[in-house]
Amino acid sequence: MKGVIFNLLENLTVAKFGDEILEEIYAEAQFSVDAPPFVGSETYPDSDLFAMVTLLSEKTNLPIDDLVYEFGKYMFPVLANKYPVFLDNINSPLEFLKSVNDIIHVEVKKLFEEANPPTIKVKVIDHNQAKLSYKSERKLCKLVEGLLDGVADYFGQKISYTHQQCMKDGDPECILHIEFYD
Ligand code: HEM
Repeated sequence: MKGVIFNLLENLTVAKFGDEILEEIYAEAQFSVDAPPFVGSETYPDSDLFAMVTLLSEKTNLPIDDLVYEFGKYMFPVLANKYPVFLDNINSPLEFLKSVNDIIHVEVKKLFEEANPPTIKVKVIDHNQAKLSYKSERKLCKLVEGLLDGVADYFGQKISYTHQQCMKDGDPECILHIEFYD
């Protein structure tokens, strides 16, 4: 995973739980690389990110899934602010989500060597319903849920979603049915 994602997790940890917890995590994590500092453009093993989240969960007594969800929700406005070009002329969460796979994550691969973003496909059912499929060996569908709520908040639109199938239950991909409210 790219360092930029590690940096966002560091920022979330400090913002929500304070810098002492981050220092403790640094001291206790058995990172497989010589880091921190994590450099945004570098690539680090996913296991190092999971090690950080696991320690954060132990220290805060919050479930890993809840932390990963919060991470996604926190991450979206920061990414939107950092890469405003991806939001230009986009007026709704649905329109935006359709651009993630074929525009944003394609640009991410050009911008960062070795980036390996997930496959996120959106099938529009009608103007207020869509099916989103998520496929990644990382099985970070809770991150997707948090990102979806982050996107909805960003555009000021209410959404709801249900996980209809999940990679964590052995399905080949996650399918989320999303509703968008007027
Ligand atoms: C401005 C918007 C966005 C930018 C700039 C962006 C960029 C990135 C980057 C740099 C990574 C790390 C890839 C790697 O290290 O290999 C990533 C991963 C990821 N992105 Fe995006 N992203 C954006 C929006 C979204 C949205 C809206 C979703 C979902 C609805 C999404 C889903 C994910 C997920 C789940 C991952 C984690 C990796 C995985 O599951 O395999 N992203 N993204």
